[in-house]
Amino acid sequence: MQVITSIQEMQKTSLEIKRTGATIGCVPTMGFFHRGHLSLMEGSRAENDFTVVSLFVNPTQFGENEDFDEYPRDLERDKDLAEKAGVDILFVPAPGEMYPENFSTFVNVYGLTDEMCGASRPGHFRGVTTVVSKLFNIILPNRAYFGQKDAQQALVVQRMVEDLNFPVEIRVMPIIREDDGLAMSSRNTYLSKREREAALVIPKSLEAGRALLEQGEKRAALVAEKISAVIKREPLACIDYLVVKDAVTLKDIEEIKGRVLVAVAVWIGKTRLIDNFIFESPQRRT
Ligand code: PAJ
Repeated sequence: MQVITSIQEMQKTSLEIKRTGATIGCVPTMGFFHRGHLSLMEGSRAENDFTVVSLFVNPTQFGENEDFDEYPRDLERDKDLAEKAGVDILFVPAPGEMYPENFSTFVNVYGLTDEMCGASRPGHFRGVTTVVSKLFNIILPNRAYFGQKDAQQALVVQRMVEDLNFPVEIRVMPIIREDDGLAMSSRNTYLSKREREAALVIPKSLEAGRALLEQGEKRAALVAEKISAVIKREPLACIDYLVVKDAVTLKDIEEIKGRVLVAVAVWIGKTRLIDNFIFESPQRRT
């Protein structure tokens, strides 16, 4: 596995790969790899000749009072895991090269970013879409891999790629979970033992919501109430948002119809965790 830190060298290497007719799959990450990240790398390897993983803790997507400084970092461990996963190139740009002093261009997707994580973390998606645009221009991928874990991020990136005509296919991969159901996240490392137990209320509450939907419940508000009631039983948990939405437009819905996104962000102590599932409601016979 090659480790590249210079933007120019990365772009040159990608241009050379593309010139041979080979395809590039790209996996943007902020590192501290877990099986969620590794599943995206596997997905890319299965569909592309070369897999480039970027590792960059992107300062522009963190708010002022957020965890940029605390965000877990371990480059040696990540190199090892990426190499074992069969990654061809690990791209680790320096913050000063990604955002030099005179940097003044941002990419913003409107509408889709107003709610959920966009409302709780103002400016977050502007940072995400800006860095992803830069990474696409540097890595020149044919396909890029994102996790359903960050459901809104995947939709926002898809919107950006369509609106700005990036020649990149976006692939969204399933959520990878710990054995007990907690969605994998680099931020799970912040949890104390007691908080880690409390965090289980997140997947459990979503399962309770899914069970209601599977029983045929059509009232979105009742599904949300059920999930909320389960979370509120856990004293260490505090709901940031809980939504039942159209999975494509992110519009609020009253009645369960078509593809529905059920998503939550929950504070467990000082750690904010997100999780979601998509429910495909059965077509009504006409
Ligand atoms: P990061 O949190 O490192 O996540 C990198 C990718 O891994 C994202 O597409 C995310 O959705 C996916 N991922 C995380 N946990 C997952 C899980 N449990 N199952 C499946 N996929 C999972 O998301 C970011 O970084 C950044 O915002 C980034 C896109 C790199 C831009 O800076």
